[in-house]
Amino acid sequence: MDIKKLLNTLTIEEKIGQMLQIAPFFFIKNLEIEVAGNVNDLALNEAKIFRAGSVLGIRNASEMIEVQKNYLKKSRHQIPLMFMADVIHGYETIFPVPLALSTSWNPKLAYDMARVSAIEASTAGLHVTFSPMADLSRDPRWGRVVEGFGEDPYLNQIFTKSIVEGYQQDDISKDGNIAACVKHFAAYGASESGRDYNTVDMSRLSMHNDYFTGYKAAVDAGAHLIMTSFNVLDGIPATVNKYLLKDLLRKSWGFKGVTISDYDSLHQIIEHGCAEDDKEAAIRGIEAGLDIEMASSCYTNYLKKLVENQTVDIKLIDQAVYRILKLKKQIGLFDNPYKGASIEQEEKLVRSANHLQRAKEAALESAVLLKNDGILPLNKKLKYVMIGPYAESTSTNGPWSWHGRNNLNHQLSELLVEQGISLILTKEVSHPSDLSDSDMELVRESDVIILALGEHEKESGEAHSRSDIRLPRKQESFVTFSEFMNKKSMVLLYHGRPLDLTNIMQTNAILDVYFLGSMANDAIADLMTGVNNPSGKLTMSYPRNVGQIPIYYNHLNTGRPKTDGGHNEFVSYYLDVENSPLFPFGYGLSYSNFNYTDMSVSKKSITKDEKLKISINVENTTNIPGYETVQLYIRDYSATISRPLKQLKGFKKIWFDQHEKKTVEFELSNHDLSFMNGEGQTVLETGRFAVMIGSNSETLTKMDFHLVKEVVK
Ligand code: GLC
Repeated sequence: MDIKKLLNTLTIEEKIGQMLQIAPFFFIKNLEIEVAGNVNDLALNEAKIFRAGSVLGIRNASEMIEVQKNYLKKSRHQIPLMFMADVIHGYETIFPVPLALSTSWNPKLAYDMARVSAIEASTAGLHVTFSPMADLSRDPRWGRVVEGFGEDPYLNQIFTKSIVEGYQQDDISKDGNIAACVKHFAAYGASESGRDYNTVDMSRLSMHNDYFTGYKAAVDAGAHLIMTSFNVLDGIPATVNKYLLKDLLRKSWGFKGVTISDYDSLHQIIEHGCAEDDKEAAIRGIEAGLDIEMASSCYTNYLKKLVENQTVDIKLIDQAVYRILKLKKQIGLFDNPYKGASIEQEEKLVRSANHLQRAKEAALESAVLLKNDGILPLNKKLKYVMIGPYAESTSTNGPWSWHGRNNLNHQLSELLVEQGISLILTKEVSHPSDLSDSDMELVRESDVIILALGEHEKESGEAHSRSDIRLPRKQESFVTFSEFMNKKSMVLLYHGRPLDLTNIMQTNAILDVYFLGSMANDAIADLMTGVNNPSGKLTMSYPRNVGQIPIYYNHLNTGRPKTDGGHNEFVSYYLDVENSPLFPFGYGLSYSNFNYTDMSVSKKSITKDEKLKISINVENTTNIPGYETVQLYIRDYSATISRPLKQLKGFKKIWFDQHEKKTVEFELSNHDLSFMNGEGQTVLETGRFAVMIGSNSETLTKMDFHLVKEVVK
């Protein structure tokens, strides 16, 4: 298909139609799908609907085929619709939410999640997924932290890259591959006060060194689309921000793909106070380089007139439509408008045993053991009761779990009993006082109380910010209740965001299980009984209280750092809480124990063309085999701009048999020692550096070295 030729056959209305994305029910009458906002405000007549270029959301292959057929019947140009949807961490086989998956520190699992998602979504005739979400965030009040990969730029880049590659592989025209649309561009995770859709305001240094890194990794990995975010940046809504969409994305990063707005976000620039009406929004969008308008109709209702009165240059529309048609060609739609859609493949592949097993494998590595004074793994000789608001929950798919069905997930209690655990009571109660007399008898008879606490899946995700991230007081009372009953207790924590766990620290163990997807409870049972050994490491700091936010490990030192044991009161600290988080970035326990010894570096100084080799011995001092994620951080002691006290620059997740000792080696190059300036250029400065290795961002062994201009003779 010659795109240029095709473009020249289109009327201006047909060109503008390619830039519109709407929901499927516009094409199939009486198709009840709930969408945000009042879609009748779009003022779309039948002609405009049947000139649209793409569809937001689809339920299955037969629906896609019906929509495409209806559309092509009425379309003069016969350009097929493209189908896009939010397949974020699974299509029907649901994997752990991205924040949980990132605690696996295993990008291969992220790749596999994307593969399974793409295979399943493709059978429904989906061509694009609005994933990965590469929004770095340091604020657990923001509900969408659940969709991202935490607070660290290095880890965010690695996971984002893996997921793009998993969705797309080498050719998005092949069945089983879908195009990735990285989002939300840009810096949406820095919404002020953690309130969704709120203002974002930061230095260019923060943008380039932290918040842009995930999107850049996705673009470099070949993501075919990028979605603009709801927030402003530099006071301009991202959806019409020329710096973002033209200077940075096209000129600096060389992105050749398609830009798409978020839901109704072009129309919403009126609310932002950056356009009088949809007509002005259309001008700002096309001039900024926005290609597809999702779920609003500024382009559809105004661009033609704006071209006719020479306000808008038709060239801008041709450029956008060229990119859209090129993407449709890359997907293979001109060869097969029903690309991927197959009712037979859908029945064979969606929620297959193989896919569910792969989701379980991901879940097993995506839980974090935060505390354990020995009551885990469970003991078959002891009696247990499991109580709390989530004691019988199968709602483990979490936010944005597309077609995942919680009612198909297994009950944890049944799985524990199957493994021979003496679970004498399982009761979903929101407060201990809801327990009946007979329940209390069983509590008294038990040795350990398992408390299933946390958040409901609707308490995180989009538009679900919280100003208080403590557990509800009712839930905290379960821990004091266990103490009152003079019973040991463990907390099983289902949730989407880091929570303030300060008031439950008297419990004997905490297994943090987030929302681990379709096979969550199957994995949790294996982790609780010791069939599998927990290995997750936090990718967001857990605050001691909400007042510490934003709290993150890679912070600057300030000129008046609080030092342990220091007596000067004029330093950077709080009167009422420590500076450190309750649980730091990179933290996670295991049933094994790992000792770090004999750290060494290959040289005391290197030039910019040399690499530094670092090694350390790590020993599993127990007879329990397990994974340990060995982490490597650096510090640049002195540079033109203040640099973080530590930055993750490498990690290795290594399996240790019982009592096994291994030498773990890393290499650092000048790329790892450089930083970005406000213009987004890479800067490398000589000077003194520290390299640190350990099991989390606070438990580290450190050695210094120098980066020098030339070798010192
Ligand atoms: C939502 C979300 C975005 C999603 C889009 C389409 O508002 O912000 O992440 O991809 O709309 O559903």
